[in-house]
Amino acid sequence: MSGASAPIEIAGLRKVFRQTTTGESIVAIDQLTLRIEPGELVAIVGKTGCGKSTLFDLLIGLEHPTAGSITIGAKTPYDDFNDFRGKIATIFQQDRLFPWRSAIDNVKLPLELIGIAEDVQQDRAMFWLKRLGLENFANAYPRELSGGMRQRVAIARAFAVQPEILLADESFSALDEVTANDLRKTFVDLAREFRSTAILITHQLEEAMSVGDRIVVFGKSAALLADIRMKDWDRSDHAMLRSAIQNTLQANAPDERLKR
Ligand SMILES: Nc1ncnc2c1ncn2[C@@H]1O[C@H](COP(=O)(O)OP(=O)(O)OP(=O)(O)O)[C@@H](O)[C@H]1O
Ligand SMILES: [Mg+2]
Repeated sequence: MSGASAPIEIAGLRKVFRQTTTGESIVAIDQLTLRIEPGELVAIVGKTGCGKSTLFDLLIGLEHPTAGSITIGAKTPYDDFNDFRGKIATIFQQDRLFPWRSAIDNVKLPLELIGIAEDVQQDRAMFWLKRLGLENFANAYPRELSGGMRQRVAIARAFAVQPEILLADESFSALDEVTANDLRKTFVDLAREFRSTAILITHQLEEAMSVGDRIVVFGKSAALLADIRMKDWDRSDHAMLRSAIQNTLQANAPDERLKR
C-alpha cells in the first residue's frame, strides 16, 4: 500500500438540507475550513446533530456541498466520484455487511467493484481476514458471527481496497469496551502501518484522546471550536484536556485552556 499522498483540503464548506416534512432549512455545516495532512490520524468529536456524518457523506461523494469545497489532490470526491473508487473506505457504526455473502465474499466485494483480478481478490481478502484473526471464519455468513467479528470483517473490507483515506463513523461504539478498545487499536495500528489518512468520528473523549494525532472539536453546524494537536501536550495534561474539551462541547464555545 502506498499510503496517502495528498492532503484533504476543506474550504468554506457549507451544507444546507431542506427537511421534506417541514420545508425548514437545516445548516448541517457552516463555513468549515480544515486541512488534514496525508497520513494524519484525526479524531472528530461533537454533539449529536453537529454535522459529523454529513462531512463524511461529502467526503465520500454522496452529497454535494451547498457552498465551499473539499479538494483531495486537485479533485473533489463529489464531482470526480470515479477517481476516488478504492481510495476512500468507510467503516460505519453498523457493519453493513451483505447477509447473503460470506465473510470473504463481503471483503471481496469492493475489490470486484474496482475490477481487481479474481485471484488477487481472493489472496487479498484472505490476507486481511487473517490480519483481523478471522481466517477460520472466511466462509461464515454474517449471521453466524458476533457483532465484534462482523465489525472485524468490515475493517478487513475497508483495508482490502488499500485506501488512501479511511473514515470510521462511530465504528466501535456499539461494542463492549474491551472489544471496542481492541478493534480501535487494530484500526489505528493498520492505518499507521499503511500510512493512510484516517478520520474517526466518536462520541467518546477517551477514544479520541487515545487515537488521534489531532482532535477536532465541532460545535453546532460543524463550527471548528478547537483543533488540538496531541503532540503539543504532555501526558500529564490529559485530564485537563478532557475537561476542557467537555466544557467546549457543553458551552458550544472554545475553552480558554485549549488556546495555545
Ligand atoms: N439527508 C438529510 N436530509 C435532511 N437533513 C439531514 C440529512 N442528513 C443530515 N441532516 C441533518 O443535518 C444535521 C447534521 O446531521 P449529521 O448526521 O451530520 O449529525 P452528526 O454530527 O453525525 O450526529 P450524530 O452524532 O447523532 O451521528 C442534523 O440536523 C440532521 O437532521
Ligand atoms: Mg453521525
